[in-house]
Amino acid sequence: MIVEKESPRVVVITGGSKGIGRAVACRFAGEGARIVLAHYDPDDSAAEETLKLLADMGAEAESHRLDVSRFQEVDLFFRKILDKFQRVDVLVNNAGITRDTLLMRMNEEDWDMVLNVNLKGVFNCTRAVIRSMIKERAGRIVNISSVVGQIGNPGQANYSASKAGVMALTKTTAKEVAPRGITVNGVAPGFIDTEMTAVLSKRVKDAFLTQIPLGRMGSPEEVAETVYWLCSDAANYITGQIVHVNGGMYM
Ligand SMILES: NC(=O)c1ccc[n+]([C@@H]2O[C@H](COP(=O)([O-])OP(=O)(O)OC[C@H]3O[C@@H](n4cnc5c(N)ncnc54)[C@H](O)[C@@H]3O)[C@@H](O)[C@H]2O)c1
Repeated sequence: MIVEKESPRVVVITGGSKGIGRAVACRFAGEGARIVLAHYDPDDSAAEETLKLLADMGAEAESHRLDVSRFQEVDLFFRKILDKFQRVDVLVNNAGITRDTLLMRMNEEDWDMVLNVNLKGVFNCTRAVIRSMIKERAGRIVNISSVVGQIGNPGQANYSASKAGVMALTKTTAKEVAPRGITVNGVAPGFIDTEMTAVLSKRVKDAFLTQIPLGRMGSPEEVAETVYWLCSDAANYITGQIVHVNGGMYM
């Protein structure tokens, strides 16, 4: 008897060049998924490193430079991906930036930029892919939020507002597309060891650590594991949820 092999899942990960996005890509590489990374680094060096890691794992992967905050460009990007692969099975909206400063010093550009990348970017990518998922009557979307979207954080008015927005957007999208067999969930990491947190001073890091019952930063792989699980059959009945991966920082 010929057993037909299921075709590999097509997985798009924004912000996939490094940090949490890279760990998510590597986690999906393990199942032999076809992986499409989008990033907006000034150069391709991190993305190339990630592609090398994925190739070493035997995964088919490609990387593109894309600013998720630009509606038209995002739409065109997904049209090309859909033309090439016919469908997107998994979208991980992971791209994110910080522009930290106290609210009284925050300028309009700091606010707009963070909201545009972190929140509008999730809308843009979801909007671009959702029709095709609806047509397939299947799909998984995971949006990366943050613990500070839940509890707030001084110096991060823009970032925490964007991440709270991601939580609300996740729940609304989940309700809209659940009847079509698509799940939409959020993952809210706490304090994770990536380039984003590497820039923080020792004083700020130590202050964070005192708030974490498990007493350490999380790893990108620990976040990736939850993202992957939400896209697995084990999570078929889970949608509209925000899963906190934070060492107990928020309970
Ligand atoms: N590191 C943490 O402690 C932490 C905590 C909570 C949430 N998060 C969130 O997790 C996600 C990943 O964070 P990380 O720590 O891995 O960050 P990182 O700085 O290591 O990587 C960020 C990625 O996003 C991409 N990116 C930035 N702007 C973009 C844009 N306009 N368009 C497309 N891609 C863009 C970068 O190119 C890069 O690939 C972010 O959404 C972040 O807010 C991180």
